[in-house]
Amino acid sequence: AFEVVLASSGRVVPVPADQSVVKALAACGVDVMVSCEQGVCGTCLTRVLEGEIDHRDVYLTPEEQAAGDQFTPCCSRAKSARLVLDL
Ligand code: FES
Repeated sequence: AFEVVLASSGRVVPVPADQSVVKALAACGVDVMVSCEQGVCGTCLTRVLEGEIDHRDVYLTPEEQAAGDQFTPCCSRAKSARLVLDL
């Protein structure tokens, strides 16, 4: 488990091991638009301001993944204890 922080409000949202970031956000009333929910389409792409991402998508190129400033919250997760999202 890890947590995401919404940069705009400072709100902290816990992400349990069995839940996606998108689902955890939705449970807190924060909607991220999704389509495939499998890391393929890029619809959910969200900017990451801080933290280490565990990329699990096939949408971003390896270079984009390595840059570490955006991720697909429908399936990707965090390696660090928290991610600060540009939301
Ligand atoms: Fe398609 Fe996240 S919804 S990549």
